[in-house]
Amino acid sequence: MPKTLIEPFRIKSVEPIRMTTRADRERLLEQAHLNPFLLHAEDVLIDWLTDSGTGAMSSRQWGAIMEGDESYAGARSFYRLEKVVQDITGMPHFIPTHQGRAAEKVLFSAACQPGQVVPNNCHFDTTRANLEVLGVEALDLVIAEGLQPAFDHPFKGNIDLARAEALLNERGDAIPFGMLTVTNNTGGGQPVSMANIRAWAALLKRYGKPLVMDICRFAENAMFIKLREPGYADMPVRAIAQEMLSHADGCTMSAKKDGMVNIGGFIALKDDRWLEDARNALILSEGFPTYGGLAGRDLEALAVGLEEGLQEDYLRYRLRTAEYLGERLEAAGIGFVKPTGGHAVYIDARTVLPDMPQAHYPAWALCNALYLEGGIRGVEVGSVMFGKRLADGSEAYHSMELVRLAFPRRMYTQSHFDYAAEVIAEVKQRAADIRGVRIVKQPPLLRHFTAEFAWV
Ligand code: F0G
Repeated sequence: MPKTLIEPFRIKSVEPIRMTTRADRERLLEQAHLNPFLLHAEDVLIDWLTDSGTGAMSSRQWGAIMEGDESYAGARSFYRLEKVVQDITGMPHFIPTHQGRAAEKVLFSAACQPGQVVPNNCHFDTTRANLEVLGVEALDLVIAEGLQPAFDHPFKGNIDLARAEALLNERGDAIPFGMLTVTNNTGGGQPVSMANIRAWAALLKRYGKPLVMDICRFAENAMFIKLREPGYADMPVRAIAQEMLSHADGCTMSAKKDGMVNIGGFIALKDDRWLEDARNALILSEGFPTYGGLAGRDLEALAVGLEEGLQEDYLRYRLRTAEYLGERLEAAGIGFVKPTGGHAVYIDARTVLPDMPQAHYPAWALCNALYLEGGIRGVEVGSVMFGKRLADGSEAYHSMELVRLAFPRRMYTQSHFDYAAEVIAEVKQRAADIRGVRIVKQPPLLRHFTAEFAWV
C-alpha cells in the first residue's frame, strides 16, 4: 500500500493565488502597521488565519445552493436541514442562527441569570464574552495536561472531573448548566474522550444539571475518538458523533467549521425547557425561527455540508494534514502543542526565539516573520492577544507565546504544506535576524485585531 494519504477530492474550480516577493511583503506589512489582521487577503499566499468559514464547498453543496427555498416562513430548506440536524444530534428542536456566537447569545439569554457560573473545558472567546455580558462567570476546567504545550496526551481537551465536582458541591445552586467544547479550540484543538463526555454528563445529571455542548468541531472530535479510544475503531464516525451527542441536552454550533459552509450556525435542544425563550430571543435579533439569519440557500449548503464533514476518508485526511505538518516541524527542531489538533498547529514561538524578551512579543514577531519569509498568515495566541496594558502603563504577559496555523477545509494541498514547512524551517535558521515589535497604538479591548506596531 502506498504510504501517501491523498486529498480525497479533485479540483473543479480554482482561485488563483497572487504571488508576491519579499520586497512586496515588507512594504505591505509596513502599510498594515506590522499587524497581519490589517493585510489585504489577496496579499497573502497561504492564509491560515482561521479555519472558520474559509473552506471550499463541494460541487454537491454548490448544486444544493440552487435548490434554496427563500420563503420567509416554513421554507422547504429549513425542513431539509432540520431532518439532518435531528438525525445527527438526536435532538428534536432545531433553531438556525447566522453563526456560532449568535447561537450562544440566543441560548444563554434564555438559560442564564446574572451571578451564575458556567463550567466548561475551555470557553472560546465569544462563548466567554456572551456569558460575561450577562453577568455570568465562565470557568475553564480543562485537565492540567491540557495546559502544557509539550505534553503528549490523547485527549488533552478533557474536563477535570474532580474540580468540576468540587464546583458542583460548592456552587451548585448557581450553575444553570455545564458545557463542553469539542474539540477544545482554546486549548489547541484537542479532543475530548467519550469516557470523559459520559462521565461529565453523568456527574451533571446527579446534580440535576443539563449538559450543553459547543460542537463546532464535533466531527473531528469523533474521528479522534475512533482513532484513539479503545472500543471505537470499528464504529462509523457518524455513530460516534451520535453517541457523543446522546449525552448532551443541548448544543450550540458554528457551522463555519465542521458544517463545511462559509456562514451558518444553530442551536439544538433535547427538551423544551429553554425553547420558547430562545425562539423569542431569536426573532428579536436573528429572524424568524425557520431561517434564523440565513438565506434558504445557506440552509441547503449546510444540510449537505454536515453529511460531508462526517465522511471518514475526508476526516482521516484532515487530521493527517495537521499531523504531517507537525512531523515536519519536529524534524526542523521547532516546538508546537502536542499532539497536533484537528484544525490547527500551534507553534511554540519560544522554541524559535528563546532569547527574545516577552516585551518584544515573540509570537507576534514570529507571525510577522512567517509572512515576510513566505507570505503565510497565522494568528498570534500570546501576549498581544491575551496580555494587557495595566493602569500604571506596565504590561501583563500571557503564559504561552503561540502562533496558530489554522487550516481551511479542503483548500490547500500537500505542496502548500510542504512549502509552509520549508518556510518555517528557514525562519528558524534565520531567527537571529527576526525583529521584535512594540505597540504604538491599541484599543482598550481585543487589541490584537486593530493594534498598530513598530519594530524595536
Ligand atoms: N466556539 C468555538 C469553539 C469556536 O472556535 C468559535 C469560532 C465559536 C464558538 C464562534 O463561532 O465564529 O461562528 O461565531 N472560532 C473561530 C476561530 C472564529 O478562528 O477559531 P462563530
